[in-house]
Amino acid sequence: MRFEELGMYPARVEKAVRESPAVVSLHLRSPLPREPSPGQFVMVWLPGKEEVPMSVSGWDGARLRISVAKMGETTSELQRVKKGEYLGVKGPLGRGFELGRGPYLLVGGGTGMAPLIFACRRLRERGERVKVLVGARTSSELLFVTEARRTGAEVEVTTEDGSSGEGGMVTDLLERELPKRPWKVLACGPEEMLVRVVEECVKRGRKVQVSLERYMRCGLGVCGSCVLDPVGWRVCTEGPVFEGRLLLRTDFGKFVRDPTGRRLPLPPGRRG
Ligand SMILES: Cc1cc2nc3c(=O)[nH]c(=O)nc-3n(C[C@H](O)[C@H](O)[C@H](O)COP(=O)(O)OP(=O)(O)OC[C@H]3O[C@@H](n4cnc5c(N)ncnc54)[C@H](O)[C@@H]3O)c2cc1C
Ligand code: FES
Repeated sequence: MRFEELGMYPARVEKAVRESPAVVSLHLRSPLPREPSPGQFVMVWLPGKEEVPMSVSGWDGARLRISVAKMGETTSELQRVKKGEYLGVKGPLGRGFELGRGPYLLVGGGTGMAPLIFACRRLRERGERVKVLVGARTSSELLFVTEARRTGAEVEVTTEDGSSGEGGMVTDLLERELPKRPWKVLACGPEEMLVRVVEECVKRGRKVQVSLERYMRCGLGVCGSCVLDPVGWRVCTEGPVFEGRLLLRTDFGKFVRDPTGRRLPLPPGRRG
């Protein structure tokens, strides 16, 4: 069966790059119908496995990059695909970051750096002032630090175990940084971290946009598996990027849905 018959674009793997022990980036050549913008995602299908949502971590005009962390069966298999293999891709999907005039402060935790490195590149190409705060549990999990520095952005690093940069949480850096400039904040990472980022930004009167993860089945606004209660926003279509202040009226930081649609308290340490 051809990918097009399944409503997907074929995506040829041109390169697989190991970014860290847990993350592999796939560079995919695919005839997407329009350019992805930072914060948008694609549904990726490896024949024989489930479709999974992946943020776009780069776009060079012809090639799409996704950066895959190993979580379960599909992401483990995606990390094993080789140059020349084909995946199916739907997208670009969802609402990305609204990028205007800076200065911008980007706050990324773990693989949450995937959409942010794309935003960082776009903002720097426009000559905007950008500072990136990169956090992870330990140094080997830090993502895109060198790439962010190469764009000319200022970069600060923090690890929970102190193995690289300052010891502590990325939100500690944020608290220190926020009063220094009229930063506009973009954030992605574990939901507990995002809650702290939003609360801190709201307290200081700073605009904050957050890229959120929810279990997604269709990615197209049809199945309802990603709905945020009580307002009914679908993360795949009204998001995944939301204005932080608006998220405080929802399940954000409190409940998620499992693959059966059941509402569960947010598990600790959850990426999205
Ligand atoms: C908008 C969006 C962007 C994302 N971007 C990235 C990215 O850039 N890089 C990356 O590595 N991961 C990203 N994810 C998460 C990724 O989709 C899940 O890790 C993946 O679907 C897990 O599939 P699996 O079969 O390997 O694991 P599973 O065995 O299915 O699950 C492992 C864990 O992942 C969670 N999960 C499973 N499926 C999903 C899903 N469809 N959406 C969210 N969480 C899920 C489960 O609750 C479970 O805790 C993104 C998710 C969303 C919603
Ligand atoms: S994933 Fe189906 S509605 Fe969002």
